[in-house]
Amino acid sequence: MPFVVLKVAMTLDGKIATPEGESKWITGEKARTAVHALRGSVDAILTAIGTIKADNPQLTCRTQEDRNPARVIIDPSLEVRPDSNVLCIPPETIIVTRLARDIAATRPEVIEKKRVLLGRGAQIIEYSGDRLDMKWLMKELGKMGIISVLVEGGSSLNSYCMESGMVDKVMFFIAPKIIGGKSSFPAVGGRTFRRLEEAYRVDNISVKKIGEDILVEGYVQK
Ligand SMILES: NC(=O)c1ccc[n+]([C@@H]2O[C@H](COP(=O)([O-])OP(=O)(O)OC[C@H]3O[C@@H](n4cnc5c(N)ncnc54)[C@H](OP(=O)(O)O)[C@@H]3O)[C@@H](O)[C@H]2O)c1
Repeated sequence: MPFVVLKVAMTLDGKIATPEGESKWITGEKARTAVHALRGSVDAILTAIGTIKADNPQLTCRTQEDRNPARVIIDPSLEVRPDSNVLCIPPETIIVTRLARDIAATRPEVIEKKRVLLGRGAQIIEYSGDRLDMKWLMKELGKMGIISVLVEGGSSLNSYCMESGMVDKVMFFIAPKIIGGKSSFPAVGGRTFRRLEEAYRVDNISVKKIGEDILVEGYVQK
């Protein structure tokens, strides 16, 4: 199993994007430089289709261009656009999607889309059924020689990762901003714990000031 770090850039009130999906740039330049260095230290970055559609990110390491990690995109319905940055700018991108023949039952054009994406140099990992087992995915990445993963997802992916128990370390970059509102994106979506004692716990916390932002990091209690 790869070592998994979940990274979030959020406001003081725990939001990662406005209701319209704007998240560039919550944190300041120094925090963003630290994230680029972090990318240079892992084998792969994991994100999902909501983030690709909202931000069209490159997800490259701009501090050491020779150390670009692989990009892994969870895209259950194969919605990624062939002209998106992750498919036009090196290095390789791995797309994780439902079996093309299952999606094709309602969207036959998916078979052609898969061919186009493979032609763009993407690798495709397919899973069967409606739900992606995140631990299974981590094992598949491990078999490909990926032993460290940085999660840079939206609310949805962050919650799937936490729920699966696969996250070893969290790094929360906190900006001195407040977005507020019920419809802005929370750092971790999905499940709500009804009792505080059920909440995910983080140990060995350390706190650092990076420019005007604060980095809180620690290890998830298993
Ligand atoms: N500030 C930050 O740190 C940061 C980082 C990244 C993105 N963002 C912002 O977050 C917003 C997008 O959030 P989001 O929650 O829509 O994006 P997301 O998590 O990147 O993608 C959501 C989509 O991917 C699917 N998905 C995610 N993980 C999955 C999994 N493990 N298995 C199966 N399907 C999975 C979701 O399915 P379901 O329908 O089942 O949920 C949904 O369709 C954007 O505005 C972006 O700018 C902020």
